[in-house]
Amino acid sequence: MDYALVTGASRGIGRAIAERLARDGYTVLINYQSNTSAAEATKEAIEVSGGKAELLPFDVSDGKAIETALTSWEEAHPGEHISVLVNNAGIRRDGLMVFMSEEDWHDVLRTTTEGFYYITHHLIGGMIRARKGRIVNITSISGVTGLPGQANYSAAKAALIGATKALSKEVAARKVTVNAVAPGFIATDMTADLDEAELKKTIPAGRFGQPEEVAALVGFLCSDEAAYITGQVINIAGGMG
Ligand SMILES: NC(=O)c1ccc[n+]([C@@H]2O[C@H](COP(=O)([O-])OP(=O)(O)OC[C@H]3O[C@@H](n4cnc5c(N)ncnc54)[C@H](OP(=O)(O)O)[C@@H]3O)[C@@H](O)[C@H]2O)c1
Repeated sequence: MDYALVTGASRGIGRAIAERLARDGYTVLINYQSNTSAAEATKEAIEVSGGKAELLPFDVSDGKAIETALTSWEEAHPGEHISVLVNNAGIRRDGLMVFMSEEDWHDVLRTTTEGFYYITHHLIGGMIRARKGRIVNITSISGVTGLPGQANYSAAKAALIGATKALSKEVAARKVTVNAVAPGFIATDMTADLDEAELKKTIPAGRFGQPEEVAALVGFLCSDEAAYITGQVINIAGGMG
């Protein structure tokens, strides 16, 4: 069985990616932090469409929790192997640098970079040994161009881009690809507090994107057809960036 782990898959972009990968034949491991009812709804939606999914909750900013969850999963699934990893979970805590608290700086960095390190570090050996693997890191246009009020978020997402490029070169010969997807404004809970009417004026396409549009790109990057694409950052931002 082919397993795909999607972090932050209870809602938003992660949920759409989980549904897409399930349609593409993967058994999806739905990671989330605390919103069990949303995660269960994602699982149910996948199963209703004939797909397979399991819940795998842990906090991506907690290295010990990640090790415990992945080790328990492996013990419960002997001989099985996770061949797709989508590092999607992320948070924003916007504020101008002069007002930014230490906590907002560290929480945003930790969620993105610790999650990337601990999960990827745990799974990459299996992908290398199997000579099969896809890693997609969900960064942001904010990490590509920088956005005011997001020094923490831009730093975290830019770190993910650097890690994507470096790791892709380490594992390309082992048939493991590593790419980053950089969305612009996508309609999810994360952007629900933003002034959509005002922001739309700054987007060449004149609208927010949908989670399913990001999921379609991730689905392609995880397919066999994308075997020769690695180390790339692909913007999906309606012309921004
Ligand atoms: N929406 C956008 O416009 C946009 C643009 C560019 C990039 N992105 C990036 O795309 C990714 C998904 O964004 P979204 O808009 O779908 O976000 P969202 O609607 O706020 O959903 C966030 C998801 O991440 C999970 N999560 C948050 N912190 C976590 C943690 N510490 N451990 C495990 N799971 C955690 C949440 O789980 P719970 O349900 O348990 O809370 C939820 O499933 C993020 O990395 C974000 O930075 C989003």
